Amino acid sequence: MATPITEPVSCDPTRTKPLQDRVAIVTGSSRGIGREIAIHLASLGARVVVNYTSSSSQADSVVAQINSAADSPPRAVAVKADVSNPDDVKSLFDAAERAFDSEVHILVNSAGILDGTYPTVANTDVETFDKIFAVNTRGAFLCCREATNRVKRGGGGRIVLLTTSLVGALRPGYATYTASKAAVETMAKIVAKELKGTGITANCVAPGPIATEMFFEGKSEELVQKLKNDIPLGRLGEPNDVANLVGFLVSDGGEWVNGQVIRVNGGFV
Ligand SMILES: NC(=O)c1ccc[n+]([C@@H]2O[C@H](COP(=O)([O-])OP(=O)(O)OC[C@H]3O[C@@H](n4cnc5c(N)ncnc54)[C@H](OP(=O)(O)O)[C@@H]3O)[C@@H](O)[C@H]2O)c1
Repeated sequence: MATPITEPVSCDPTRTKPLQDRVAIVTGSSRGIGREIAIHLASLGARVVVNYTSSSSQADSVVAQINSAADSPPRAVAVKADVSNPDDVKSLFDAAERAFDSEVHILVNSAGILDGTYPTVANTDVETFDKIFAVNTRGAFLCCREATNRVKRGGGGRIVLLTTSLVGALRPGYATYTASKAAVETMAKIVAKELKGTGITANCVAPGPIATEMFFEGKSEELVQKLKNDIPLGRLGEPNDVANLVGFLVSDGGEWVNGQVIRVNGGFV
């Protein structure tokens, strides 16, 4: 017979949260998946930089939501920075260090764009290609480069780059977008090795369809239904489905996951 568990579950009120006081930058967190990640990391105890390029009032409301739930604000600040601009990315890290008087522990790069007309390669103009690669690929590179130089060494350092399950699904109409993210997945696997000895992990989180503005852009109700039907769980993903995974990866328990691409898509791919 199994021995009954007699140890009481710990309810020590002084026990801190998993990310207590760690500083996290979440790019593209004024809305969508990034917003949910910022709020989730804050709920785990992190101090968070909410980054955006144009939606400042939405970024302010994310900051207000985090700070209103905190017992010792400010736990979040909004910082405008375009991830495709090297000076902006440097300033973003400067602002994080200044705001919280600390090194940065966690970078989550969620900023990204998509062409909602879903052109085939034959119909993709060079400007669109360059714009998507500038934000999704160059932006991920710049954020990742800054993080490899500035994220805290010696334990707890984390880099998470948002990519896409389309790298596996290979759907027509998404070639430029998917290629821009495939490059990031390759880069992250190498960065994880280059960071040997620092205690910093680097991973990609690759969502399937998630109900955000980006997902609905340019899609008919019929197409949305069809995509839903392609998902074994029979629903679209919610930003929280992604945020929970990111929360695990950036916590101490996620340390052994390193150099990986983790798809989170309800079985879509
Ligand atoms: N939703 C999906 O189905 C899905 C699936 C797979 C992967 N993803 C990836 O997940 C990430 C988040 O997607 P989402 O659905 O949350 O998108 P979203 O709702 O369109 O939000 C995009 C966020 O990125 C910010 N952003 C855009 N360009 C930026 C730039 N140059 N610099 C800094 N911030 C910038 C936006 O802020 P502003 O409004 O201020 O520009 C916004 O906060 C993206 O990388 C996307 O590719 C999404």
